[in-house]
Amino acid sequence: MGGSRRTAIVTGASQGIGAGIVRGFLERGFDVVATARNMAASTEVRAGEHVATVDGDIGDPATAAGLVETALARFGSIDVLVNNAGVFLTKPFTEYTSDDLGLLISTNVAGFVYVTQRVVKQMLVQQRGGNIITVTAALARNPMRGITASVSMITKGGLETITQHLAMEYAREGIRVNAVAPGAVYTPMHRNTPKEVMESLAPMGRVSTVQDVTDAVMYLTDAATVTGHILYVDGGAHAGRW
Ligand SMILES: NC(=O)c1ccc[n+]([C@@H]2O[C@H](COP(=O)([O-])OP(=O)(O)OC[C@H]3O[C@@H](n4cnc5c(N)ncnc54)[C@H](OP(=O)(O)O)[C@@H]3O)[C@@H](O)[C@H]2O)c1
Repeated sequence: MGGSRRTAIVTGASQGIGAGIVRGFLERGFDVVATARNMAASTEVRAGEHVATVDGDIGDPATAAGLVETALARFGSIDVLVNNAGVFLTKPFTEYTSDDLGLLISTNVAGFVYVTQRVVKQMLVQQRGGNIITVTAALARNPMRGITASVSMITKGGLETITQHLAMEYAREGIRVNAVAPGAVYTPMHRNTPKEVMESLAPMGRVSTVQDVTDAVMYLTDAATVTGHILYVDGGAHAGRW
């Protein structure tokens, strides 16, 4: 415990982008605490010497407490937090229900707040800075006609705003706070999205992969003086029209 290895917590780690980020940290010699509601059933990430798994809903404050306790008990510190757990709904604005709103706020917003609060408290105790990276969405700032994600994007836009606020609030303590904003990425979230639709969302004609997003997270993990940044991984979609 508490040796030279660093520890990362990754939320939404059972599949898709989160599972790729776990693999990225393991390749770099990190210990990882991986969490999702069905983490123990994941076929992509399994518990082991360098991976602790925690099952729980990220919108439940008890999950956040369990994550920090597990990280400290198993690995002795917390150096990086990746807030990746998220849900994405599309429907006309007028058809979002109160259940939809509740799910989006609980998972994407409350889940971020509960875990990040506890992790920042621990990073302040450790007194050696830290690194928080949140997976948002390129769509938050760059709406597209026909992709009716208005209420989903309240949450992602809010996460980008708090990323910049926390970057300032904790700059002197050396806690860096950044976001990665993917365009469409091939993951189970898009298992039913036709290939032509995915490609139509990518100006380069090449849809981003889990590895592309993982590479961005690893860059931000290393980028010692980058904070308050939103790093787009969207084939240029945020930059214009195509
Ligand atoms: N794929 C894309 O095109 C795309 C584009 C832009 C942004 N993003 C963002 O990237 C992140 C990952 O997306 P993805 O495509 O990898 O999604 P995904 O394949 O649907 O995976 C989502 C992950 O989050 C977990 N999760 C969902 N609800 C949860 C909850 N209430 N509590 C705890 N864990 C929960 C899921 O595990 P359980 O079901 O076991 O809980 C799973 O591990 C999300 O924040 C998403 O909004 C994705």
